[in-house]
Amino acid sequence: MARITASVYTSHVPAIGAAMDLGKDQEPYWQKVFAGYEPSREWIKANKPDVVFLVYNDHANAFSLDIIPTFAIGTAAEFPIADEGWGPRPVPRVEGHPELASHIAQSVIQQDFDLTIVNRMDVDHGLTVPLSLMCGQPQAWPFKVIPFAVNVVQYPVPSGKRCFMLGQAIRKAIESFDDNLNVQIWGTGGMSHQLQGPRAGLINKEWDNQFLDRLIDDPKGLAEVPHIEYVREAGSEGIELVMWLIARGAMADVAGGGKPKVKHRFYHVPASNTAVGHLILENQA
Ligand code: DHB
Ligand code: FE
Repeated sequence: MARITASVYTSHVPAIGAAMDLGKDQEPYWQKVFAGYEPSREWIKANKPDVVFLVYNDHANAFSLDIIPTFAIGTAAEFPIADEGWGPRPVPRVEGHPELASHIAQSVIQQDFDLTIVNRMDVDHGLTVPLSLMCGQPQAWPFKVIPFAVNVVQYPVPSGKRCFMLGQAIRKAIESFDDNLNVQIWGTGGMSHQLQGPRAGLINKEWDNQFLDRLIDDPKGLAEVPHIEYVREAGSEGIELVMWLIARGAMADVAGGGKPKVKHRFYHVPASNTAVGHLILENQA
């Protein structure tokens, strides 16, 4: 059977991708960000998954206001890199896992979550920046990726509680797949940031760090936090953090297993307009 070995959480700031693509990652401003991912790059080399189930949000690149799926699972064999206005990022193509993705769609829909099945989708910085942060600049990504896009852009967006419950359904789905795959689940986006309006530039270090504490020790309680608190405390784009609860809901302790091990934790301000937060949790063997 497939099993979820670990979850990874990380911000997806687009300028981080640009810094890498333009060879600026060792400049003093960016070095402080990338230093926080050095242990993660070592960790993932030593703990290479077969597949990453990557929860992220699209920023009006694959979707638009024409069609707004709340939860969309990518079932294709390959996902082209989106052109976000300055050409596609020069990163390897993203290979999917159609068999596992179709199995997850079947299982999760039968567990009463309505997913949109997407057979063709370009992936933007929400997906590629986390890959770059964790893997650097390889010739090919070292694992397959199932993109799972969540609408956190156009209201109504799903609650943290629903995301946490969905994570539990995804865990059941993955662990009922009849192949011995090592699967990681990643929750991306956040941390606090607001890109527009009078509060643009808002960063709330104290709230972010509390979110990380609670994500580790009290995910069920954290899942009760309403939208208005994310937006008030972490800014309008801080709502991306509900996606981290999908990954956390898929961890073993939520289903009665042992507590996950914290393998790495990192927090840094600033990177562009956002705080960068990062966490790696490992399920016990
Ligand atoms: C920025 C951050 C984001 O999460 C995003 O999607 C776009 C821009 C920023 O910090 O500039
Ligand atoms: Fe974003």
